[in-house]
Amino acid sequence: MEINELKTTERKSVLITGASSGIGLAIARALADNGYEVYGIGRNFDESSSTPEKFHCVICDITDADALEKSVNEIRKSHPIDVLINNAGCAYYGFHEELNASKIKEIVRTDLEAPLILTQMLLRDMKKYGGTIINISSVTAISHANPHGAAYGAAKAGLYSFSGSVFEEARKHGVRVTAILPDMTDTDLYRNADFKADDEEGASLSPKDVADAVLFVLSRPEGVVVEELVIRPQLHRIKRKTKNDLH
Ligand SMILES: NC(=O)c1ccc[n+]([C@@H]2O[C@H](COP(=O)([O-])OP(=O)(O)OC[C@H]3O[C@@H](n4cnc5c(N)ncnc54)[C@H](OP(=O)(O)O)[C@@H]3O)[C@@H](O)[C@H]2O)c1
Repeated sequence: MEINELKTTERKSVLITGASSGIGLAIARALADNGYEVYGIGRNFDESSSTPEKFHCVICDITDADALEKSVNEIRKSHPIDVLINNAGCAYYGFHEELNASKIKEIVRTDLEAPLILTQMLLRDMKKYGGTIINISSVTAISHANPHGAAYGAAKAGLYSFSGSVFEEARKHGVRVTAILPDMTDTDLYRNADFKADDEEGASLSPKDVADAVLFVLSRPEGVVVEELVIRPQLHRIKRKTKNDLH
């Protein structure tokens, strides 16, 4: 199948969080290029980089529940949302006792609470008119243990569990729900970590690989749901950052 041949005869609106960088930016661009009207949420958009005409940047901190509700209601007034992509995420790594309460709250609010709130806001309409929810979880959700990333892994496992539950609640109403579980992807998510993917080709996914997975999920024929998708790079190689990487 040609991934680019998405059925976008009707005008479809997408709400995606974390559209200002990395995986979310790649997804937002790919969907806008494929005819979707994309509302991308983030706090810091690079104003110098050009975005497709159908990509609308919405500045909002999703850990602020009131601001999030206000922004989403504003968009919904003019555009019913057909596709919700819970992508924004933050991560802190290290021994759990080394994290502080504010970092823990930031992880849980960004990676779990905001997707729960957004889904709650949109689900009633999606049950009436149909819709798709894609949750960008992580392979950490299905690892037995995530040492040095316990809080992040717990939040991602929560999102993964939530994704399956919402699918079971909403499937008979025509709502499609998918969890995508990427492994190491070449983005800034590891800015707070003392490790990164090896530079060797094949040691990490690119944001486009995940965007292609989203296009694949959205292009399934009616009646077919990809409930979960695990994407891994060919190689499993991470390395400790050097002093140069840390600056
Ligand atoms: N990279 C990987 O190896 C990997 C693997 C598995 C899963 N994932 C998941 O993929 C998703 C995207 O991450 P990424 O790798 O693309 O990292 P990234 O480049 O750091 O992107 C994170 C995105 O989330 C947004 N965000 C974070 N906190 C936010 C807040 N409070 N309000 C609004 N937006 C916020 C950021 O935007 P602003 O900073 O502009 O707000 C940014 O657009 C995350 O859920 C991550 O957990 C990543």
